[in-house]
Amino acid sequence: MYTKIDFNYKTILITGGAGFIGSNLAFYFQDNFPDSKVVIFDCFRNGKTFPNGNLMSFGHYKNLEGFQGEIICGNINNKNDLSLLDEYQFDYIFHQAAISDTRVYDQEIIMKTNVNSFYDFLKLASRNNSVLVYASSAATYGSLPSPQIVGNEEPENPYGFSKYAMDQIASLFARKNPDMIIVGLRYFNVYGSREFFKGKTSSMVLQLGLQILDGNSPRLFENSDKIFRDFINIEDVVEANINACNPKNSGVFNIGSGSPRSFQDIANILQKELGTNLETENFPNPYLGYQFHTQADIRSSEENLKFKPKVSLEEGIRKYLPEIKLLHGYSD
Ligand SMILES: NC(=O)c1ccc[n+]([C@@H]2O[C@H](COP(=O)([O-])OP(=O)(O)OC[C@H]3O[C@@H](n4cnc5c(N)ncnc54)[C@H](O)[C@@H]3O)[C@@H](O)[C@H]2O)c1
Repeated sequence: MYTKIDFNYKTILITGGAGFIGSNLAFYFQDNFPDSKVVIFDCFRNGKTFPNGNLMSFGHYKNLEGFQGEIICGNINNKNDLSLLDEYQFDYIFHQAAISDTRVYDQEIIMKTNVNSFYDFLKLASRNNSVLVYASSAATYGSLPSPQIVGNEEPENPYGFSKYAMDQIASLFARKNPDMIIVGLRYFNVYGSREFFKGKTSSMVLQLGLQILDGNSPRLFENSDKIFRDFINIEDVVEANINACNPKNSGVFNIGSGSPRSFQDIANILQKELGTNLETENFPNPYLGYQFHTQADIRSSEENLKFKPKVSLEEGIRKYLPEIKLLHGYSD
């Protein structure tokens, strides 16, 4: 339990609660605050795909097996679905629902889903007088040099731009409503439990782990020992969301470890833990606009959210491996 806030008898909305981060939050409340009332709003998946072959939404009922709260299947783009939330009085809103796939290039659907719906949640939070914590992203920085710092953004894809737009809208709204608590969390590369159903958009920790368990060489882009990312464990991300409910100031904050690691490091840690010694297979990086080095500047998150990442990449991978082994061979 990370907090002095008592969430028991509070009503909590988690949009995107059938997805990776949202479902972890839901179980955090269920396990630590059994008398909290958690409502999940998610459109789940329906088999429709984007031109890149990935599903249009990744929510999966299996992420919620054992969840005892309320679930509403609804689309954040649909006002009728959203009106189902009118009967509640939310104390806290964790807005995670979004097109989370950074390689979707249909600007209209990204902007409608990620940005237009955000106005609805800001209004809902204002009406209910709720604390609003929402998911922003390190994609707002594009390939700006490290360390990435809030206030200096250069998104390089529609997804990154949509999150950047959300941050601008939130900041305007917060200025007009100074009594509200509105916190945007710029997650860096999150990995851990319940990300399996994100398929090809899941973390490299999971994807490489499954490859190695298959007995295959870990497949990495050429020069992967020089591609550094800021990987952050899901436990630290859940804690950041909880801390964000009681911030020193509203605002947008980086949620990363602050310690960049290479993709090659991940493969090496996995191989060490699994006792394998497979040769890495390298292939050319097909992507333009690729982040080659990310490192969250977390000074402001430490100061305003008391955010302190605790889980090293080594420990995070070690703790995650039993789940990866269980998932190995599982097909959706
Ligand atoms: N995982 C990461 O590394 C990471 C990094 C930066 C930002 N984020 C952001 O964090 C949030 C959660 O990400 P995640 O990794 O859990 O992704 P996810 O795809 O697992 O979760 C998103 C959830 O939103 C739901 N959703 C999508 N479109 C919807 C719609 N139109 N209506 C209702 N529900 C809809 C999906 O079904 C899914 O359950 C997202 O906003 C994402 O952009 C994630």
